[in-house]
Amino acid sequence: MIRKGLTFDDVLIVPKRSPARTRRTIDVSTQLTPSISLNIPIVASNMDTVCESKMAIEMARLGGIGIIHRFLSVEDQVAEINKVKRAESLLIEKPYTIPKESTIDEALALMEQKRISGLMVTDVDNNLEGILTQRDVNFANGTQKVSERMTRKVITGDRGISTNDAIKLMDEHRVEKLPIITNGKLFGLITLQDVQKREQNPLAVKDKKGRLKVGAAVGVKGDYLKRTQSLVEAEVDVIVMDIAHGHSDIAIDTVKKIKKEYEIEVIAGNVATAQGTRDLIAAGADGIKVGVGPGSICITRMVAGAGVPQFTAIMDSASVARDEGIPTIADGGIRRSGDVSKALLAGADTVMIGSLLAGTEESPGLPLLRNGKRYKVVRGMASFGASLGREAREKKGSFDENDLEDVVPEGVEALVPYKGSAKDVIHQLVGGLRSGISYAGALSLREARGNIEFIEITHSGQMESRSHDVETV
Ligand code: XMP
Repeated sequence: MIRKGLTFDDVLIVPKRSPARTRRTIDVSTQLTPSISLNIPIVASNMDTVCESKMAIEMARLGGIGIIHRFLSVEDQVAEINKVKRAESLLIEKPYTIPKESTIDEALALMEQKRISGLMVTDVDNNLEGILTQRDVNFANGTQKVSERMTRKVITGDRGISTNDAIKLMDEHRVEKLPIITNGKLFGLITLQDVQKREQNPLAVKDKKGRLKVGAAVGVKGDYLKRTQSLVEAEVDVIVMDIAHGHSDIAIDTVKKIKKEYEIEVIAGNVATAQGTRDLIAAGADGIKVGVGPGSICITRMVAGAGVPQFTAIMDSASVARDEGIPTIADGGIRRSGDVSKALLAGADTVMIGSLLAGTEESPGLPLLRNGKRYKVVRGMASFGASLGREAREKKGSFDENDLEDVVPEGVEALVPYKGSAKDVIHQLVGGLRSGISYAGALSLREARGNIEFIEITHSGQMESRSHDVETV
């Protein structure tokens, strides 16, 4: 028997009576893994033309998350994680310090080098003796000692102080920097600037230390365990074990090994079936990435003849995963917000997005000009270009043509129109999703899933769904 597989264009959400008076308040929060909650259900794809630190920072600020791709050396991938972790941290651990015997010129040079506006003054045992800020040095002579200019009476907080108490303390004493002390020694620093950044991005997804959350991809071959170890040490929040055919012995063994060695959640994929989902969950996966061949730059279905239309793949995988309490990511094939609504109401917990984000300012690489229009490049991770890049990195540039003889590309390289900031793209996707949830008769994503009805449509239905019989302007 041959089953029928459907994809996003084949179905519509059947409208139901809606209690929503405004779509703005519709709750789209969700789970990436059992322990990672997101405020918007969107994940930036671990592709080298989509997600490095700049994209991951923006995604986490907006309430989603980015996964740093693995076509980087271990050191470079860790450096990208570090950039995300340092972008916005409420508590800066090990703030920059200076001894009180130093000169003001030395202090100013350090501040300029580190691009900071203040230094903690400590003795050799890390006891806090004062604080030196721009205000203290405005009228100073460069040869004066730090001890002559520093503010000695410093308001401090104890390690473990709550964010609210720290804000209260800074407000009460009208200070912009609050050194944090443990056992009498300097432990960290909370700054007003970081508190304000937090207020600008109320949906931001943060770890326990107030830093943005971020994921990183690993493969199944070569240095993957060393890579995982380095990423875990860099305090990445989740590992994504990502290969084209995730329902394979090697993928299952890899998940088991990582779960055995490290205390970290692992999202595994990609699969497109209920059995694939079951097997990866049995191996210990904390999240399942669903999608074989739906991506904009994928040609797996052409090259290998394998895959499952994405809507059916999501329905099959998500129902199994939901019973096990494991979230699923619908990965690939999202072209517009209606696809996001359909993927999430079909059961996925998040959507992973590649080419829609590849055209934004935050994706790696610069826009290029063609016929007067701006574009950015997107390429499949199994494309010839990406394989070439990886070989060059692994062999440090010294590979010959024979190394690439075995490559059978399952992805293409393409141009996508430059779209400006990722924030605008995400805003449109989330706005459309909220609308979809309202049409489904619900006030939240979670509620909508329990009450969802889809209708399969014909080719004429698809034609009717688009704008038609008019000249669009
Ligand atoms: P979209 O449609 O958002 O899809 O651009 C992104 C997803 O596509 C997958 N991907 C590939 N699939 N060959 C494939 O068959 C490739 O070369 C390739 N590169 C990326 C991946 O799951 C990504 O998140």
